[in-house]
Amino acid sequence: MRVAAFTDLTGPDGVSIIDRPTPEPDRHEAVVVVEACSINRHDLWILEGDSAMVDTNDLPFVSGLDLAGTVEEIGEDVTAVEPGERVVLCPNETCGMCRYCREGPENLCENYSLYHGGLAETARVRADRLVSLPDDVGMVEVAALPTAYMTAYHMLRRVKAGPTDLVFIPGCTGGVGVAGVQLAATLGAHSIGTSTSRAKLDRLESLGLEYAIEGTEPDEIRDVISDIGPVDGVLNHLGGAYTQLGLDVLRRGGRMAVCGRTAGGTSEIDIPDLFLGHKRVIGSTMGTQGDLETLVELVADGALTPEVDETYPLGKTGEAFAAMQDRESVGKLVITP
Ligand SMILES: NC(=O)c1ccc[n+]([C@@H]2O[C@H](COP(=O)([O-])OP(=O)(O)OC[C@H]3O[C@@H](n4cnc5c(N)ncnc54)[C@H](OP(=O)(O)O)[C@@H]3O)[C@@H](O)[C@H]2O)c1
Ligand SMILES: [Zn+2]
Repeated sequence: MRVAAFTDLTGPDGVSIIDRPTPEPDRHEAVVVVEACSINRHDLWILEGDSAMVDTNDLPFVSGLDLAGTVEEIGEDVTAVEPGERVVLCPNETCGMCRYCREGPENLCENYSLYHGGLAETARVRADRLVSLPDDVGMVEVAALPTAYMTAYHMLRRVKAGPTDLVFIPGCTGGVGVAGVQLAATLGAHSIGTSTSRAKLDRLESLGLEYAIEGTEPDEIRDVISDIGPVDGVLNHLGGAYTQLGLDVLRRGGRMAVCGRTAGGTSEIDIPDLFLGHKRVIGSTMGTQGDLETLVELVADGALTPEVDETYPLGKTGEAFAAMQDRESVGKLVITP
């Protein structure tokens, strides 16, 4: 079988198509024929050599967390899925033994890690991490869900977003950003989002974004938001200067969930503003398999259509990463092996 492997951690040119033996399942595993696998900034950071998770000694490395496809073969102890079943993978890898695995939520697992290996024609996965799909849910759209939508949904839960709330999403045009806008709308919340691109923001308005702000300057964005009103929740996947900006626009007692560092891995924040305003900053990573099941139901019910900008065959995986690097896309990029 063919895989899109990272053979150099130098950016999109470091992706090569290579042959690997078709995997066999262990007793708790399933082998899935991958029909779609979406990519995330997480994969791009690995590919750019900007991730502590993979170094040049681990090459070639097959990334790809968010795979959807059809079960081909199962291990002897597997009862949860059968060959021929259509599935999407929850990429959470947990130990099953720590207090968070016992009592939840599972994404706090003390030994938490992520599945990688979806950028391939077939993938060997833990069978109990597969979520079954109704027949009318498309593989490409469902492959968009696991990392971006699950993370955004979990963050919306953590900030307790509800009907009529105002949610601020700096950088609203990528995977997590678009997911945040769409899911806020399904909850009845209003959203404010930013981007450097007017054209991308125009597309977001049709996906439920109510207040679109073009620009990156925190002072300007803060002024525009102060005319809209106090924000109840912030979904911050950018870090850097956006953390204080989020705190500035948050109402007293409001909550900001933080999941990423695209604009900077450190943020300076105004401590008196934090405590005098009773504001909460909440770290959040991925979500639970239950979150993913909820998202699949939303798609099946027609309440959510994940936004997929473009699909690429496996041989063009490097081009998909180049489009992500160039900030050309809105929503998700999906590889169809
Ligand atoms: N902790 C977790 O569990 C978790 C899960 C998923 C994602 N994340 C993190 O969340 C972040 C977003 O991931 P993603 O896959 O959604 O990425 P993505 O699709 O590449 O996000 C693109 C968005 O980020 C904005 N952006 C890109 N570079 C920027 C910069 N230098 N300054 C300001 N804005 C910038 C883009 O703005 P323009 O519209 O202006 O181009 C666009 O809105 C990443 O940091 C990722 O690692 C974390
Ligand atoms: Zn655990």
